[in-house]
Amino acid sequence: MSAQVKIEGLSLAYGAGETAVLALDRITLTSDRGQVLGLVGESGSGKSTLGFALGRLLPQGVRPTEGRVEICGLDVWNAEIRALRALRRKRLRFIFQDPVSSLDPTRRIGRQIAEAVDPVADRAALLSIMDEVGLHDHDRVLSAWPHQLSGGMAQRVAIAIALIAEPDVIVADEATSALDASVRARILALLRERAKARGITLWLLSHDLHAVRRYCDRVAVMYAGRIVEEGPLPAVFDAPAHPYTAALLAATPGLERPGETLPTIPGTVKPHRRAAVDCAFAARCAHARPDRCRTERPEPLSVGTGRSVLCHFPLLKQGTP
Ligand SMILES: Nc1ncnc2c1ncn2[C@@H]1O[C@H](COP(=O)(O)OP(=O)(O)O)[C@@H](O)[C@H]1O
Ligand SMILES: [Mg+2]
Repeated sequence: MSAQVKIEGLSLAYGAGETAVLALDRITLTSDRGQVLGLVGESGSGKSTLGFALGRLLPQGVRPTEGRVEICGLDVWNAEIRALRALRRKRLRFIFQDPVSSLDPTRRIGRQIAEAVDPVADRAALLSIMDEVGLHDHDRVLSAWPHQLSGGMAQRVAIAIALIAEPDVIVADEATSALDASVRARILALLRERAKARGITLWLLSHDLHAVRRYCDRVAVMYAGRIVEEGPLPAVFDAPAHPYTAALLAATPGLERPGETLPTIPGTVKPHRRAAVDCAFAARCAHARPDRCRTERPEPLSVGTGRSVLCHFPLLKQGTP
């Protein structure tokens, strides 16, 4: 399988000098065609920043300080603006939590859908996607302005637009959090099914670890701008290698492991100002050994099959199958 998303040593800060926040700290990650990747971690860990970095969608002046992002072979941060526009129109689509951010308030829905497809899609395909996301009143929806739709309907439109474009990559940033549970399950199942059928690389940035376990092939766990653990599901959730992954799962009703008593993770994610020289999680980690964890930055270690962890003392030993 070929990597459709390739990130190498990506670092990125908001602001400069004393007030800088290092939102991404040497991220390396690849995703193949048809792969569904869950990106999890507490609020502020850098999930959205990493998603935005795929499309060069960050505030003016914010750009990586090192590393690169490649989507379908395009070097995103060094690409010409025309290539970048083509990428965003055709190959890489975003769906955000708030449909207002995904839809243009000044255009009717039908027009926005028509613009997402090039050439104008086969109408039958369009209507079938609308049905699949639960937008059955086609004519009413197509002639509506975004403000005339309920939040849930607008979100389904945003999802339909992302799918009808037949992109190579979809980044869904908490895209289904605002939908009610049964609709959410149906839409996540649909997104996954399309990713598999069409070879779309699908990233689900989510707080919902149950959904990640159910719909994703792999998971990357972020903490303070780093990926602290990455690997296949359900292996990572069944036997986490990083103490942070274990704590995150232990704090999630229904995913805690038997005998696990770690209901909350004390402390909060502390954003780093510069590339850290220690383990970012050491201050909150029950397993940390100060001599090493506070003084030496962990490098990715291979554990298990196709897994890596950023920890000096992983819960899963190297060589474990
Ligand atoms: N536009 C911005 N300007 C300054 N800091 C930001 C901006 N967006 C995010 N941050 C900071 O970057 C870090 C990562 O944020 P974010 O990517 O939104 O994390 P997540 O999506 O995991 O909640 C946080 O410390 C956040 O406060
Ligand atoms: Mg976010």
